Amino acid sequence: MEIRKAVITDFENIKSMMLKALRSDPNAFSVNYEEYASCSNYWWQNYLSDYLAGLYSHMYFAQENEIIVGMAGLNFSRKIKQQHSVDFVWFFVDQEHRGKGIGRKILEHIHTVLKEREEIVKIALSVVSTQTKAIELYKKFGYSVSGNQRRHIKSGNDYLDLIIMEKHLRP
Ligand SMILES: CC(C)(COP(=O)(O)OP(=O)(O)OC[C@H]1O[C@@H](n2cnc3c(N)ncnc32)[C@H](O)[C@@H]1OP(=O)(O)O)[C@@H](O)C(=O)NCCC(=O)NCCS
Repeated sequence: MEIRKAVITDFENIKSMMLKALRSDPNAFSVNYEEYASCSNYWWQNYLSDYLAGLYSHMYFAQENEIIVGMAGLNFSRKIKQQHSVDFVWFFVDQEHRGKGIGRKILEHIHTVLKEREEIVKIALSVVSTQTKAIELYKKFGYSVSGNQRRHIKSGNDYLDLIIMEKHLRP
């Protein structure tokens, strides 16, 4: 299993993994499958352009025998006052491949990448309160809860909390 950074030719791979994630785990993300599935190709080109360029946004794939089984993204800030902080997004492992350590490997890889970026002092993420496996995993990697946006997400008739977690990478 290898972890690789998405490149300019990965448009369809990123799009299909994002749609797969939204369809397979509708509560896990703060956006909706039907909403994204109905967006035009033009919208997707625009939305994914930063990931494809690989400068301010990176997408990482976990790949097994050429098949993409997991992903996670990093969003860096263009703003001078926020360039020390990075957002962790779109963390997902295909249902069939869960519980085999792939999520752990993706997180380890991301932290190795960030260790080499001396200017980055913290990584932050938001996770819907229903995603207990993800929350446990983040805690094991040293993330702690720094906020709770109560009833931030509406899923069917339910309102779900969005938990903010962060990890400080340097003093
Ligand atoms: C969160 C997620 C990416 C983890 O991927 P994974 O490949 O299954 O994770 P791993 O196999 O590396 O397991 C890592 C940890 O996850 C937790 N975990 C995994 N499977 C679990 C299970 N069946 N029950 C409880 N915890 C579990 C454990 O803390 C585990 O730690 P361990 O290795 O010390 O036992 C995956 O469950 C997923 O895609 N979930 C849906 C999307 C989601 O919630 N994304 C987070 C958005 S913020």
